[in-house]
Amino acid sequence: MPLADHSQQLNVGVDFYLNSFISFSEVDETISIMGCVLLNWTDPALQWDFLSFDNLYVIVIDPSDIWTPQMFLANVVDDMEPIGHGVTFYSTLVYTGEVYYSPGGIMKAKCPTNVAKFPFDTQECNLFFFNWGIVKSKLTLSALSNQAKLDWYTPNSDWTLLEYSTFVEPYNDYSRFNVNIKIKRQPLYYAVMMILPTLLFALLNPLVFVIPVESGERVSLAMTILLSYAIFLTLVSAAIPTSSNPMCVLLAVMITIISLSGLIVASVIVISKYHFAETTVEFNSPLKRLAKWRLKKKRNVVLPMDGHKKQIDGIDVKITGSNTGAIHRAGIAYHSRAPV
Ligand SMILES: *[C@@H]1O[C@H](CO)[C@@H](O)[C@H](O)[C@H]1NC(C)=O
Repeated sequence: MPLADHSQQLNVGVDFYLNSFISFSEVDETISIMGCVLLNWTDPALQWDFLSFDNLYVIVIDPSDIWTPQMFLANVVDDMEPIGHGVTFYSTLVYTGEVYYSPGGIMKAKCPTNVAKFPFDTQECNLFFFNWGIVKSKLTLSALSNQAKLDWYTPNSDWTLLEYSTFVEPYNDYSRFNVNIKIKRQPLYYAVMMILPTLLFALLNPLVFVIPVESGERVSLAMTILLSYAIFLTLVSAAIPTSSNPMCVLLAVMITIISLSGLIVASVIVISKYHFAETTVEFNSPLKRLAKWRLKKKRNVVLPMDGHKKQIDGIDVKITGSNTGAIHRAGIAYHSRAPV
C-alpha cells in the first residue's frame, strides 16, 4: 500500500465514465455497458522536486511499474477480474505523488428486471465496485461526484438514460462504489408491432356474430382470425421478454385474446348446429336452462311470438332455430313445429 504511515488508511477518489450502454437482457437479467472508472490517490514514494527536473510537473507512466488499486465489479456476470485486466491504461503522475489511473472496459452486471409493464417499462441497475481483498480500514473510496460522467457517452436508440448517480457507501467491511443506472425503453416499435395488431384482432373477433348464420361464413371467419392471431403470436413472442416473475401484462392480454378467440370458434359452431335444429327436443338441457335463465332475467312474463323473432325491451331475441311457431310455457317461449 502506498502509505507513509501504515496505521493510516489510503484514500482513493473514484469517478465513473459511462461511455455507452451496450445491451440489456430481460431473460438473463444482465446489463452490459462500456465504461471507465477514474481513480486517484497519493503515493508518497512517487513525489519529486520539479525544480531539480527542469520544471517537470507531470509524467505519464505504465501503471505496471507502480502500485494500483484493483477495482472489481461485485455483481459481475463474467469472470471476476479487475476492471481493465490485461490492458495497459497509462496513468498520470503529478510531482505531489498524486496518481490518476482510469481502467475501463465492457462491464456485464446482474440486474434484476421487472417486465410487467413491458413495453412501457423502466429498469434500474446497480453496478457495485470495490477493492476485493482490501477492507475499508485500509482503503476507503470517496466519490468525486454524485453523477457518472457522460463526456464520452453515445446514446442508445432503444433505451433512454434517465439517471446515472454514483455514491460510496460502507458495505460488509468494504467501501463500495455504486453506480445506479435507470433506463427507459422506447416503446414505439412494440406499440406498432404488437399492441396495434392485438387491438385489431380483439375488435375484429366479435364481428363474426354480425354475419348471418345462414351464410355459413361464421365458422370460417372465426377460424381464420384464430389462426392468424396464432401465427402473429409465434412471430412476436420472440420479442417479448419471457420472464415469469412478474409476468409481462401484454403477454397475459395476448393469451386472453387467443383463448377468447377459441371460445368464439366453439360458440359459433354450437350456434350453427342449433340454428338449423328442427325441434326443441334436439336441444340439450343446459342450453335450454341457459336460455330460460337469460329470458327470466329480462322479464318474467309470457311474451307474444310472431315469426321466429320477438321483441323484449326493444331488443330482437331469437330463442331457438329458424322454425316458425312457438309454444309458451311459464313465460318461456320455445319454437316448435306444433302450432300454438
Ligand atoms: C482526486 O482528484 C480530485 C479532483 O481532481 C481531488 O479533489 C482529490 O483531492 C484527489 N484525491 C486524492 C486522494 O488525491
